[in-house]
Amino acid sequence: MLTPVHRWIWSDTDRRVQKLLRFSETETDGGRDILRAAEVTSDPLLRRLYLEHAIDEFRHGVLFRHRAATLLKVSPCRSNPGFQGDWLTSGGHGLDDLQVDGESDSDMLAFLHLSEKSAASRFTVYRDVMQHDPPTRAVFEEILHDENFHMNYTLTQLARVEPKRHKRHLWRARFSRLWKTYLRLATGIAGILGSLLLTIQYFVLLPPFAWLAKRAARREPSGWTIVAAGTSQSLDRQY
Ligand SMILES: [Fe+2]
Ligand SMILES: [Fe+2]
Repeated sequence: MLTPVHRWIWSDTDRRVQKLLRFSETETDGGRDILRAAEVTSDPLLRRLYLEHAIDEFRHGVLFRHRAATLLKVSPCRSNPGFQGDWLTSGGHGLDDLQVDGESDSDMLAFLHLSEKSAASRFTVYRDVMQHDPPTRAVFEEILHDENFHMNYTLTQLARVEPKRHKRHLWRARFSRLWKTYLRLATGIAGILGSLLLTIQYFVLLPPFAWLAKRAARREPSGWTIVAAGTSQSLDRQY
C-alpha cells in the first residue's frame, strides 16, 4: 500500500544517502548487540550462530556505508536533505530496541526472529522500488539473502530451545514490537501536529497582540514629559 510513498522517498539521491548511512549505523549497532548475545549465552550452538550473525550484520553496515560513499562521490549532498520520513521507512530491523543483558535465549531468539522478518519484508520493498538505481538494488538484494537466513535460523533455534512454548514467546515479542511501532508512529504524528498547531497559533493569536502593542505605543507621548510640581519627591531613598 505504501509502495508509492517508499518510491518517492528513495527517489531523491540526498535522501537515499542519508538513509543508507543510517541503515549502516543500525546494522553495525545490531551486530554489536548480537555479538554481546554470543558472549552471554550458555548454549554453544547459539554462540556460534550468533557470531556468524553478528559478522553478517557488520558486513551489511559496511555494504550500506560503501554504497552511500559512492553515491556521495557522484553527487555531493545538500546540507539539508529535507523530509526523511524515518518513522515511515525505518531501518527494518528494530534491532536498536534490543536489550541483550538479562534476556533468556528464547526471548532473544523470538525478538531476533521478528526483527529479521521485519527487515526481510522492508528490504524486499526497498529493493523493489529501487529500479532506477541498480547498484543500490543489488546491495539490498545481497543483504536480503542474509536476512532470510537470519529469520529462518532464529525460528528453528527457538523451536529447539523451547519446543512447547515457542509460540507464546513469539506472541509476547510481537506485542512488544507493536507497542514500539505505535510509539514511533505517535511520535511522528505528534511532531507534525505540534508544528501545525504552533504555525496556526503564530498566525492567528499573535497578530491581535501585535496590533494592541502598536496602538499602545502610538498613544505614548514621545520625548521628555514634564511632571507636575508636588507629585514628585526628592530622591533620598531607593524606593
Ligand atoms: Fe542485517
Ligand atoms: Fe539480519
